[in-house]
Amino acid sequence: MSEDKGPKGTSRRGFLAGAAGLAAGSAAPRALADNVKNLPPNVPDWTRALGDGVAVRTYGNPSKHEKHVARRDVSWLTATPESSVSFTPLHQLDGIITPSGLCFERHHSGIAEIDPQDYRLMLHGLVNKPLMLTLADLKRFPRTNKIYFLECAANSGMEWRGAQLNGCQYTHGMVHCVEYTGVPLKVLLEEAGLKTNAKWIMAEGGDAAAMNRSIPLAKALDDCLVAYRMNGEMLRPEQGYPARLVVPGWEGNIWVKWLRRLKVGDQPWETREETAKYTDLLANGKARKHTFVMDAKSVITSPSPQAPLQQKGFTVISGLAWSGRGKVKRVDVSLDGGKNWRSARIDGLVLDKACVRFYFEIDWKGEPLLLQSRAIDESGYAQPTKDDLRKIRGVNSIYHNNGIQTWHLKPDGEVENVEVG
Ligand code: MTE
Ligand code: CO
Repeated sequence: MSEDKGPKGTSRRGFLAGAAGLAAGSAAPRALADNVKNLPPNVPDWTRALGDGVAVRTYGNPSKHEKHVARRDVSWLTATPESSVSFTPLHQLDGIITPSGLCFERHHSGIAEIDPQDYRLMLHGLVNKPLMLTLADLKRFPRTNKIYFLECAANSGMEWRGAQLNGCQYTHGMVHCVEYTGVPLKVLLEEAGLKTNAKWIMAEGGDAAAMNRSIPLAKALDDCLVAYRMNGEMLRPEQGYPARLVVPGWEGNIWVKWLRRLKVGDQPWETREETAKYTDLLANGKARKHTFVMDAKSVITSPSPQAPLQQKGFTVISGLAWSGRGKVKRVDVSLDGGKNWRSARIDGLVLDKACVRFYFEIDWKGEPLLLQSRAIDESGYAQPTKDDLRKIRGVNSIYHNNGIQTWHLKPDGEVENVEVG
């Protein structure tokens, strides 16, 4: 390997050098004596016997050693598990695609179990030709593949009055990013033929909540999809099997799962989910409604409270950024609570309304740091500080909290959710 210089002058040969171990912590490697028989130059156990053959694991699962990588809920957050949320373990993932089985779940009345044979999608209202589509019908329309993030409007909703939950899984884990396969909603609407006074669409789910939302026609004709696949496989039941609405860049609540009905109308329906819920109470007592777009946001996923640092020396700071207004243009990282900023390295795909992965490498000597990231999108919008956001929004909101997150990295490698004033 050549002696080229890594980030900030780190010698590439030195990535693992000088990495003084921290106090023998929880995740320290097992004592050498326990497993020396499996270490080079010895022949390990797994080389001495044949492994499972093919077709034993007909639909594969992760290694049994990865059981700690899991969706988690916060038991006190909701009264029942049916109307609740589980969070994506962002701190245990990399890249931009969320594995299907780890996508956070948000259900208002549990997971509807739908037999695909009995599935129908009804499209009616202000159309010339109402449609009643089977799943097979949906699969016969021209289809497209798109990678999008989905963020619940309530993501980071517990943090309005100060740092609360200790882990990016809980503060930011109501986001996932997958590839969808589906029919552009525009194609279905053109098939039905819109009447001239058509202006809004109501999407309704087939779950026990029959959750429904109104969508302006312009958005429906722009980039919405009726998706039946994610990451190549059919949608998981948790994500709305066999079909869900995809509303790129807009709050997750509108992405109706177990989609059963689309009605075209001339005004919004003023459903529960767009009046009593998913509105934003401001400091002056007035509430905003129809706040559809998810503004630019980012979070450092590692290190973070659930992913403390085990070693000093060369360290990869890593995180995710996204914007409902288009592509993420830049991500900045601060090590000192927002006083100084430097651009992070975005690695991998940069797509419209999808997550991007960023990296920022440092040589950590064990000094305390106040880690922050901020996303800037192609519209020029920059993620605000939490205080700047509160100046406009007050502290009574639940939804649309995209303020800059601060992680306090301590000399022992532990990380805490804090705020800087
Ligand atoms: N659609 C139906 N039918 N019922 C629901 O409870 N929850 C909504 C939305 N679509 C919901 C629904 C909310 S609030 C969010 S954030 C997203 O689905 C969550 O999608 P996910 O479970 O795939 O993460
Ligand atoms: Co939601």
